[in-house]
Amino acid sequence: MLGKHADFRERQKRAPLYEQLERHVKRRPHPFHVPGHKMGHSFDREGKHRFQSILEIDLTEINGTDDLHQPEGVIAEAQQLAAEAFGAEETRFLIGGSTVGNLALIMTVCRPGDKILVQRNCHKSVYHGIIMARATPIFLVPAVDLATGVAAGVRREDVERALQAHPDAKAVFLTNPTYYGMGIDLEKMAATVHRHGIPLLIDEAHGSHFGFHPAFPLSAMLSGADAAVQSTHKMASAMTMSSMLHLQGERIDRERLFRYLAMIQSSSPSYVLMASLDLARRHLVQEAHEEWERLLPQLDKLRERTGRLEWLEWPQLDASSVYATLDPLKLFLHVRTEQINGFALQHIMEKHGIFPELADSAHVLLAASAGTCARDLDSLARLLESLDIEVEPGAERILEAGVVSSHYLREQVLPMDEAVDLPKESIPLDHSLGRVVAEMVIPYPPGIPVLVPGERVDAQGLAMLLELRKGQTRFHGVQDDQLQTIQVLR
Ligand SMILES: Cc1ncc(COP(=O)(O)O)c(C=O)c1O
Repeated sequence: MLGKHADFRERQKRAPLYEQLERHVKRRPHPFHVPGHKMGHSFDREGKHRFQSILEIDLTEINGTDDLHQPEGVIAEAQQLAAEAFGAEETRFLIGGSTVGNLALIMTVCRPGDKILVQRNCHKSVYHGIIMARATPIFLVPAVDLATGVAAGVRREDVERALQAHPDAKAVFLTNPTYYGMGIDLEKMAATVHRHGIPLLIDEAHGSHFGFHPAFPLSAMLSGADAAVQSTHKMASAMTMSSMLHLQGERIDRERLFRYLAMIQSSSPSYVLMASLDLARRHLVQEAHEEWERLLPQLDKLRERTGRLEWLEWPQLDASSVYATLDPLKLFLHVRTEQINGFALQHIMEKHGIFPELADSAHVLLAASAGTCARDLDSLARLLESLDIEVEPGAERILEAGVVSSHYLREQVLPMDEAVDLPKESIPLDHSLGRVVAEMVIPYPPGIPVLVPGERVDAQGLAMLLELRKGQTRFHGVQDDQLQTIQVLR
């Protein structure tokens, strides 16, 4: 893709921030600056052996290391190389995950009361951004994949309809791909949104590898979106918390955006994490392709080998799919029997040393990456083949489209930002029907709120929570993470 030209590849061999940190360490400097471990000289004796080499580059804003909030040197260069690699006009490193990128973007495009079109099955950080901006969300209900019963992406006709009904909306904010790897035709979506003169913002947390191999979908930047937030730590090789924000075009006020980023990110961002972004970009351009070339046929083989088992299914993109793209790195196992559920299967896997990304009652999601080895895949295949599971006739877990879509729509009695500040009380979840919820109820993973503050608990929402509570889902955003009780407005 982008990396075809020899001069591009040559330029991309550099990792200016990482190289500067290495140069600094080689000088054997006397560090009279924070952090207090002084490049590892003072650190817990037991932990030191593991941390030492990292502590040496855990530096701060000193001469030569530049400043994330005012980049002019090696950080600016590293960000420029990232922009070039990802096809953006400008890229900013994020220390604080895609979370801070989503927050800052929403606060940039919305002033209090402004409308923003947003996918209901978005990550909690998008909801948090809406609360912080005191914006008004117009929810877009995603299409449901009938084969697996999971919410996929939003339909263009639904976005068009919402744009016509809300011509004063300031932006469209979508998640692409979903946690499960399903995506929409973003080029067409960008054209639709841009016809209404507003920006398309994409939470591309799970798509930092997109555009770097022909087997992967086109990235948001290459599809014409105005902004894309990527968790480079999720599907590429950066360290946890290290993410990127890519920008292009004139529709976003970058000065305002960078001001918000400076407010919500630490004034002492980790150089280890920033350097890991520099290296993750170089790895994507220079080395990952070869690793994916090795991995992708192995993934096909795994799907083929285990696809013979009647009790499981790997979703496949075909003419009837409600999504337009599917990330081949996401192994999204659909359990097609009542004999075992996704949680139990996850438990069995963990007992055998295989740790999936997430499970729900009917699925287990395993995320592969360039770092996945043949040995990992072989262990997984052998375990799945060894399980003695049958499919009872008619026991397939296929949900009705309407059921899942409506799980994400309920009456908004009060704006979210007002509801979070009103007097509340805790009541048993079982008795909450009809009450207005005062907290965000987010089964995690995948981090999609079932209820948000200000919404009335309806029968479908309650049934969904009771079902999730029976499994091992952890709940975020709530005071009682077992969800025996729920906070409602008094
Ligand atoms: C769709 C989506 N967006 C955003 C985020 C937040 O990303 P981060 O963990 O990098 O802050 C996540 C995290 O799981 C996510 O799944």
